[in-house]
Amino acid sequence: MQKNVYLCSRFCEIMKKSTVILAIESSCDDTSSAVIVDGILRSNVIASQKVHEEFGGVVPELASRAHQQNILPVVDTALKRAGVTKEDISAIAFTRGPGLLGSLLVGTSFAKGLALSLNVPIIDVNHLQGHVLAHFVEDGTGLLHPSFPFLCLLVSGGNSQIVLVKAYNEMEIIGQTIDDAAGEAFDKCAKVLGLPYPGGPWIDKLAKLGDATKYPFAKPNIAGYDYSFSGLKTSFLYTLRDLLKAHGVETIDELAQKIPNLREDMCASLQATVVDILMKKLKKAAKDLGISQVAVAGGVSANSALRQAFIDYGKKYHWEVFIPPFSFTTDNAAMICQAGYFKYLGKEFCAIDEVPFAKTQI
Ligand code: KG4
Repeated sequence: MQKNVYLCSRFCEIMKKSTVILAIESSCDDTSSAVIVDGILRSNVIASQKVHEEFGGVVPELASRAHQQNILPVVDTALKRAGVTKEDISAIAFTRGPGLLGSLLVGTSFAKGLALSLNVPIIDVNHLQGHVLAHFVEDGTGLLHPSFPFLCLLVSGGNSQIVLVKAYNEMEIIGQTIDDAAGEAFDKCAKVLGLPYPGGPWIDKLAKLGDATKYPFAKPNIAGYDYSFSGLKTSFLYTLRDLLKAHGVETIDELAQKIPNLREDMCASLQATVVDILMKKLKKAAKDLGISQVAVAGGVSANSALRQAFIDYGKKYHWEVFIPPFSFTTDNAAMICQAGYFKYLGKEFCAIDEVPFAKTQI
């Protein structure tokens, strides 16, 4: 594409006034749009999709359709809340992947169409990098930012990674799950217990009422900094299966009547095991690399036990820890906007014919 000449002249023109970045995030089931003006977050609007609840998981086809319905009002609201008009926009950042392809196509196409109509450049953002860069959002709450290099534990429904962050655009995955992600383990175990989707927040809630030592689940023995959660999931399942057999009942509800606090204790034990697995590898990575700035990001970083573990490890091992505000843990456009702002300053624009992709590394 002949983008460079056009983009350079456009860039010079834009630099004369305020830098206004509009971002669009549509990688899964949240439609989100945010605006950053001269480095400060001015709005972050999220429309969640309730349509998936009855199916116990995200239905890709329904997600794409809901994005189509949501995207215009969400972008419109983000601009209004930020106090800017579409004519003020300097560039449009969008999530290019990884994610559900149909969902990504809605955000990408919208970003391209709007950018073409406004004659502004587009900036593609890796969703996972966005999660990490959420730690740099200036939202007026005095959020502390890590300095490079730092380690980031990136834990979501689809990823469990330890990322060595060397610069805003230089990240290396030094460890990752070889099977399920931590969030996936929470969601699948929650489903077995008959809890709604997504199960992570339910596990967190019930765990507060349970005994974390009641059920000792299996922990993986994997080399290096990699993770595995499939064995834990099986151990959880087998524990329940054995309890059902031992009490001569067939359903979890029947079992819960025989064992007081069953769900609470199972949730607390599962959560403690997941947190322990995550933190032990992170501790090893921090020690081996001699890094003491440690951050957490992604949907699972909303988990209260994981957040507490960060505080405890921070005190014990003299880490400076960075825990995102809840609003930046799950999918949001503020983080995409921040990543887009960095790329804008680095003049890293994207050609109009670039396509989204479902799977990418960081
Ligand atoms: O990053 P995210 O919003 O979406 C992607 O996977 O990209 O993460 C969603 C995951 C789900 O697995 C959800 O159950 C989990 O984050 N989650 C939690 C909590 N809140 C969300 N897991 C444990 N405790 C929570 N409080």
